[in-house]
Amino acid sequence: MLLRLNNIYKDYMRGKIVVPVLKDVNVSVEEGEYVAIMGPSGSGKTTLMNIIGCLDRPTKGEYYLEEKNIVNYDENQLSDLRLKTLGFVFQSFNLLSQMTALDNVALPLSYAGYHVRQRRQIAYNALKRVGLEDRVNFKPSQLSGGQQQRVAIARALVNNPKIILADEPTGALDSHSGIQVMELFHQLNEDGVTVVMITHDANIASHAKRVLHIFDGEIAEDVERKRKEAEQNEQSVEAPLPEEEESGSDIGTEREDNKE
Ligand SMILES: Nc1ncnc2c1ncn2[C@@H]1O[C@H](COP(=O)(O)OP(=O)(O)O)[C@@H](O)[C@H]1O
Ligand SMILES: [Mg+2]
Repeated sequence: MLLRLNNIYKDYMRGKIVVPVLKDVNVSVEEGEYVAIMGPSGSGKTTLMNIIGCLDRPTKGEYYLEEKNIVNYDENQLSDLRLKTLGFVFQSFNLLSQMTALDNVALPLSYAGYHVRQRRQIAYNALKRVGLEDRVNFKPSQLSGGQQQRVAIARALVNNPKIILADEPTGALDSHSGIQVMELFHQLNEDGVTVVMITHDANIASHAKRVLHIFDGEIAEDVERKRKEAEQNEQSVEAPLPEEEESGSDIGTEREDNKE
């Protein structure tokens, strides 16, 4: 398993009040998957993405990335992990406006000990991969939104991450550019990159091979699993009831089959 979240909780403090935002989230992603996490605004998607991306820590729970429990990693270990394993794509591109596309894309490499020439070559190749080799010397303001997002994707790719994490990557784009970005993610996934994409948009989510739904800080699958577990526990404690018996009347300990 490439990543596994076990019983993750995240609380925020609002003044002195504890606000639970993620509630017992369990998510596993295998290498090579393309997963969308879909949910309405305020459901906890960005909070979850920040935890998966090691940008924030859970209040409680375990997080295994490549089988290592990283919950107790220090800041240096986490930033190393982000640099080597994860690539980030945000709704607002987060490009530096005074830098060219090439320099934006090369930036993460400056932390990885490459020479300038190597950095520029790798950045150029990444821009080529997203179809922007003819825009390397353009600044963000000279590019369309869709092109800026493709630059951001190239930047996310330069360190050869295992996982691309994207938070509403098409949220600021027109539908045509959005589809181009989705085609790019599809291509990257075909090339073996694991993609975890967060979105509130069902059309965008439908591009993924697997969709998880999050509502009010809970993954729908987990809610379903808990319901089934609770049902199984009930069944193992009590004999199955005949069909016509009303459910919900099983609070007492008296055996229902006496009534037959
Ligand atoms: N830093 C924070 N402090 C307090 N509350 C926060 C913080 N970040 C997010 N929240 C709250 O957590 C909930 C989920 O937020 P978020 O994860 O951004 O949702 P989404 O990305 O699905 O729209 C929201 O109610 C939001 O107000
Ligand atoms: Mg969000």
